Amino acid sequence: TKVKSAEFVMSNSDVAKCPKNRIPEYAFIGRSNVGKSSLINMLTDRKSLAKTSGRPGKTQLINHFIINEEWYLVDLPGYGYARVSKTSKKKFQKFITNYFEQRQQLVSAFVLVDIRHKPQPIDLEFMQYLGENGIPFGIVFTKADKLKPNAIDNHVDDYCKELLKTWEEIPPYFITSSSKKIGQDDVLDFINNTNEE
Ligand code: GTP
Ligand code: MG
Repeated sequence: TKVKSAEFVMSNSDVAKCPKNRIPEYAFIGRSNVGKSSLINMLTDRKSLAKTSGRPGKTQLINHFIINEEWYLVDLPGYGYARVSKTSKKKFQKFITNYFEQRQQLVSAFVLVDIRHKPQPIDLEFMQYLGENGIPFGIVFTKADKLKPNAIDNHVDDYCKELLKTWEEIPPYFITSSSKKIGQDDVLDFINNTNEE
């Protein structure tokens, strides 16, 4: 399940202008700075396919990449970034919700959460939103290199317990670190297993 090829296709803020073919696609979303773009580079074994930054708010558009000429990987801007203006926040929310509600090709979203943090309302609300709109998603825990193995288990257990307060089932989830290259196969296997029609 290695990534043989990964190419940038296009960036835009209008879902109507996204690629029009029926290639299955997977979108990565989460709070600003959670590590979406870094994860994309890790998954694809490319150093700087997606642009990363220590400053939140780096990714501003819907970015399509074609992987193995088989599926699209989509890097999205982060939500919950306080320093953008109210108007640009509104605009942003609109194009992201348009994307999720209109993109027929979307097979699954991945909601990224920092493994160090307790479940945050903004993330739980976003998962709720996806659920209400019938959009399948998995949870990607990022930055696992920041915790010791037993702390990883505890944090994931706590997260799942919180989810079970509102969800009947735990969605598929993945423990990852982009800097230590953890979780690459798990995520890629999931993608490969879900995109064979
Ligand atoms: P926006 O595009 O701004 O929403 O951010 P993003 O979610 O794409 O995050 P990005 O990949 O740009 O990473 C944000 C910061 O977190 C950078 O400083 C990364 O180096 C760091 N980072 C990302 N992944 C990891 C990881 O697995 N481990 C560690 N230790 N740091 C990480
Ligand atoms: Mg980014």
